[in-house]
Amino acid sequence: MVRQEVDGGVAVLTLANPPVNALGAALRAALDAALGQAIADDSVRAIVLAAAGKVFVGGADITEFGKPPQAPSLPDILDRLDASPKPVVAAIGGAALGGGLELAMACHGRLAAPTATLGLPEIKLGIIPGAGGTQRLPRLIGPDAAFPMMLTGAPVSAEKAAALGIVDAVVLGDLVAAARTRALEIADSGRLPRVRDRSDKLTPEAREKFDAQAAEAVKRDPDATNVHALARAVRAGLEQGFDAAVAAERAEFRALVEDPRSKALRYAFFAEREAARVPGLAKDTPRRPIHTAAVIGAGTMGGGIAMCCANAGIPVTVIETEAGALERGLDRVKGLYAGSAKRGSITEAQREERVGRITGAVGLEHAGEADIVIEAAFEDMGVKRAIFSKLDGIAKPGAILATNTSYLDVNAIAAMTGRPQDVLGLHFFSPANVMRLVEVVRAERTAPEVLATALDLGKRLNKLPVTVGVCFGFVGNRMLERRSRAGERLLLEGALPHEVDAAVTAFGFRMGPFAMGDLAGLDIGWRSRKDFGGRAPIADSLAGQGRYGQKTGRGFYLYPDGARTGTRDPEVDALIEKTAAEHGIARRSFDSEEIVERLMYPMVNEGARILEEGIAARPGDIDTIWINGYNWPAWRGGPMHWADTVGLKTVAGALSRFAAETGDDSQEPAPLLRRLADAGSRFADWKATA
Ligand code: 3HC
Repeated sequence: MVRQEVDGGVAVLTLANPPVNALGAALRAALDAALGQAIADDSVRAIVLAAAGKVFVGGADITEFGKPPQAPSLPDILDRLDASPKPVVAAIGGAALGGGLELAMACHGRLAAPTATLGLPEIKLGIIPGAGGTQRLPRLIGPDAAFPMMLTGAPVSAEKAAALGIVDAVVLGDLVAAARTRALEIADSGRLPRVRDRSDKLTPEAREKFDAQAAEAVKRDPDATNVHALARAVRAGLEQGFDAAVAAERAEFRALVEDPRSKALRYAFFAEREAARVPGLAKDTPRRPIHTAAVIGAGTMGGGIAMCCANAGIPVTVIETEAGALERGLDRVKGLYAGSAKRGSITEAQREERVGRITGAVGLEHAGEADIVIEAAFEDMGVKRAIFSKLDGIAKPGAILATNTSYLDVNAIAAMTGRPQDVLGLHFFSPANVMRLVEVVRAERTAPEVLATALDLGKRLNKLPVTVGVCFGFVGNRMLERRSRAGERLLLEGALPHEVDAAVTAFGFRMGPFAMGDLAGLDIGWRSRKDFGGRAPIADSLAGQGRYGQKTGRGFYLYPDGARTGTRDPEVDALIEKTAAEHGIARRSFDSEEIVERLMYPMVNEGARILEEGIAARPGDIDTIWINGYNWPAWRGGPMHWADTVGLKTVAGALSRFAAETGDDSQEPAPLLRRLADAGSRFADWKATA
C-alpha cells in the first residue's frame, strides 16, 4: 500500500490505496511503518510523501467511523511526523481532503501540482476535522481565513492554496522531483519548519475577525452541532497550547461521529455514490460516443439543458418551431452567461466559448446530426408524441433520443419511434443549469448501452444522475404529489398555510410547500390536475381566481409591491374555512410535529410502493433524489433514512390511524412498509429481507 524508493538520500513514499487513498487502518499501518523505516535508515536524509492515482488522499476512511479504533490512528502518524528529525515534504498531485490535508499540513513542506485541490470538507459530513486540521490550518493561514474554509468545506485550487499559504508553491513540471529537491534543501538548512510551532498568523486582527465569523455562523445555524464545535475548536487553538487544543478538537470530533446528523450525512454520502451503480448494468457495458447534442425547445428548461452541454464542452443545437421563440430563448441563455461572467463565476473567455458552443435552428430536421437529442418541449403527451414520431425519421441511426419529462409515460413516447431501445427519459430539475439531480428514466425497452451512455453523460454534465423506472411522476414528483395532497388535507382539517410552512422549515426544508407553490406558480399544478386528474380544492380555487402566487402578487400568501416573502391573507383563511365546511370537515388545531407526520409519512409510504414496484432500486436512491432535487435536509438523510430513524412501526401505525380518520385507504401502510414494520426491520435492511 505504500511503495518506498530510496535514491540520493531521499526516501519517496508513495501511497497506493485506490480509489482515493483513504487513510484506512491498513494504509495507516503501512505508512507508519514506512515512515519509521525511512527515519531509521541512515542513508535517508529527507522524505517525500507522494500518492499514486488522481487523488492525493481523500481523507480518513469514512467507513471506519463509529467502529472500534485501530492503531495506529491518524493522530499517531502525525505525532510521528512532528517528532521526525528528518524533513518530510508532501507532493500533492490531486485532491488532498480532510485527513489528507491534515497529513500534508503535518509535513515540513508542501508542493502541489496545478491539478491539486485542497480542503477540509468534514463539515459536510456533520463532523469537524479530527486530526489537527482546526489547529494547523489557522496557524498556516490565519483563523480568519481558515474558519470560513472549514465552515463551507469547499476545497480551494492549488493556485489559491499557494496564494493563501497552504502550500509552498505550485509545481508545473515533475512534482516528485521538485519535492525531493525541496526536502533536501530543508535538510541542508538544518531547521525543520513545523506548522504547529507557528503563531505569526494568529494576530489580534485575525482573532477578532474570526470571533465575528464564528458568532455569525452559530447564529445562522444554531442547531448545527458541528458548527458550534468548529468554532470552539478553533478558539481552543487561540487560547490554549497546541497539544491541548488538538486534544479538545479530537474530543469534539469523536462526539460528533456519534451525532445522528453526522450519521445521516455519511449515509447520504455513500447513498449518492451507490446510486451511480445500476443493478444489472454491467460496468463494461459499451457506451455510444457523444460529441454533439440537440435540444428541442428553447424555453427555460431547454435553455438550461443546452447550457449544461455547452459548459461540458459539447456543441449543442437548440431547436425551436419559430424564429421569435428561438431568439428569445437564446437571448435568455446569453443573459445568464453574461450574469455569470459579471459575477466572476466564469471568465469572459469561458463565457464566449460557451455561448459559441450553442447554435440555434428552426425546424426538427436540424436534429439529424446530433449524437443525443434531448426533447424539452411542453409537458404534453400529444406534443411529445408528435416530436418523437418525426424524430424517428430525422435522427441519425444510433442517436440517443431523450425526453425531458416530469411525469409522462416514457414507454408511450418511445413507442412513437421504430427504435424504442434508443429512447429514455432525462428528468432535469429547474433551473437545469444549476440543479444537480437528473432522474434518468429507464423505459421498458431502453438498451443497456443507452442507459450507460446517459449516465456517463450525466456525470460529464456535472450532474447527479439517478436511474428510475417509468410511472407517473417517477420517484420525486410521485412522492411530492403525496405531500401536496396531505398538505391540502391539513388545510381542510384545521391547519393554516403559514403553520404548515413553519413546521416544514423547522424540519429543515428551506421553504414550506405553500410558499414553494406560490414561487413555482399555482397555475402549474392546477393545469396539470386538469390534464391528469387529482384534487386540490384550495389550490384550485386560488388558481381559478387568478391567484397564481408570486407572479400575480397573490396566492396562498400576499406579495404586495413585488415582495419575495409572502404575508398572511385573511381571505385565504376564510376560503379554507368555507371549503372545509362545504366538505363537512370539522377543523381542529395541529402542532408542528403532527403536521410533519401528516405530510412526510405518506411520502415514505409512497417510497415503499416505489421500492416494491422496482421504480427505484434502493432506498438510498430515493433519498438521493429527495436531498438533491427537493431540498430535503441532508442532515436528516432523506425520507427513507429518516423513517428508519423514526422507526417503521411508528410510521406504519400513524398511517393506519390517518387512513381510519380520513377514510382514505391510500393512506394505509404499503405492504412493504407493513412487512418491515412487523419484522422490526428498517428500509436500510430491505435488500436483505426482500
Ligand atoms: N472514505 C471512504 N471511502 C471514500 C472516501 C473516504 N474518505 N472518499 C471516497 N470514498 C469512496 C467512495 O465511496 C467511492 O466508493 P465506491 O466506488 O465504492 O462507490 C470511491 O471512493 C470513489 O469516490 P467518488 O466516486 O466520490 O470519486 P471521485 O473521484 O468523484 O471524487 C473525492 C474523489 C473528491 C476524493 C471524493 O470521493 C470525496 O469528496 N471524498 C470525501 C472527501 C471527504 O469528505 N474527506 C473527509 C473525510 S473525514 C476525515 O478526513 C476526518 C479527519 O479529519 C480525521
